[in-house]
Amino acid sequence: MTFDDRLRRLKAQLTAAGADFLALVPGPNLTYFTGLRMHLSERPIVALLPAGDAPPILIAPSFEVGKASTALPWRAYGYADGTPYQAAFDAAANECDLHGKTIAVEPLGMRMLEWTLLSGSVRQLKHIFATDVIAPLRMVKDAAEVAKIRQAIALAELAFTQTLAQIRPGMTEREVAGLLMSHLLRAGAQTLLFEPLVQAGPNAANPHAHAGDRPLQRGDLVVIDFGAVVDGYGSDITRTIAIGEPDAELRAVYEVVKAANAAGQAAARPGATGEAVDRAARAVIASAGYGSYFTHRTGHGLGLEGHEPPYMVQGDTTPLQPGMTFTVEPGIYLAGKGGVRIEDDVLITNEGSESLTTLSRELIVI
Ligand code: CO
Ligand code: CO
Repeated sequence: MTFDDRLRRLKAQLTAAGADFLALVPGPNLTYFTGLRMHLSERPIVALLPAGDAPPILIAPSFEVGKASTALPWRAYGYADGTPYQAAFDAAANECDLHGKTIAVEPLGMRMLEWTLLSGSVRQLKHIFATDVIAPLRMVKDAAEVAKIRQAIALAELAFTQTLAQIRPGMTEREVAGLLMSHLLRAGAQTLLFEPLVQAGPNAANPHAHAGDRPLQRGDLVVIDFGAVVDGYGSDITRTIAIGEPDAELRAVYEVVKAANAAGQAAARPGATGEAVDRAARAVIASAGYGSYFTHRTGHGLGLEGHEPPYMVQGDTTPLQPGMTFTVEPGIYLAGKGGVRIEDDVLITNEGSESLTTLSRELIVI
């Protein structure tokens, strides 16, 4: 899909939502709609994409305007670095007649900095949240986007396999994370979606702890959560391995999580919902008696962001459609003892779903 296609679809969404412009700051939405990759910094940058035929507006440091002009025929309002910002916002507001307009803003993107400048220049500025304007467009990936996600997964799987061959008892979590990062970058990852999580033994019971200095010990389960980025698109995979044979309960818990992952994926098909996927995975864990130890949602959309709609969580009733990509990542976390999570990246197809992750889900014992 071309940027023109995306902008055309955006106009229809904005019109339906009753908004005149979408305001974007540097980030994934700006990249998605315009191709522009700019940094969010101490200097404000605001792009205003119109619902109608008005030209798009860009307020940015003058030295950034040239780069931007290759993407779209902006009506640009630059400010010299080191000068006050408000004059550029005033000029945009007055010359483009933004007064009284309704602007859709990114609730997770727009900062007080940009908002204060906008509302300082635009009289009777009205806003809505852009979530429901943008999400329907970004959730469904086209073939080129899916190809990038597949590539990000292939790189991550190669790096994981290479790391696995080097893991030994006595290495610290941080050493394993270092190996994994180096393999991810050498495999061709443009960057990492996030710093890999390597959590062994009792640390694995905390779903989002970072790698620490604890050495891997016999009997540990090790939760390893990692991802790569290719051309902006990410992969997000978790595998849990064992250092020596784990005790009977941890082994049993592993099998429950594996079954929950399979049930979640089996429930993922066109017309189903994120909450149905969540319910299917959760039911397996609950019926094994571990319901209260599965403390997070079953998954999240995956694309230009590591977490984006749709969400596999109670209350997300978005009908799943072919082209949607998201994670299925049930887990069980036993305080003081250990944890298991198995995370795959899933694509909704015409027939059902496909696990884009190809790594084995059998417990690997080192
Ligand atoms: Co993950
Ligand atoms: Co994830």
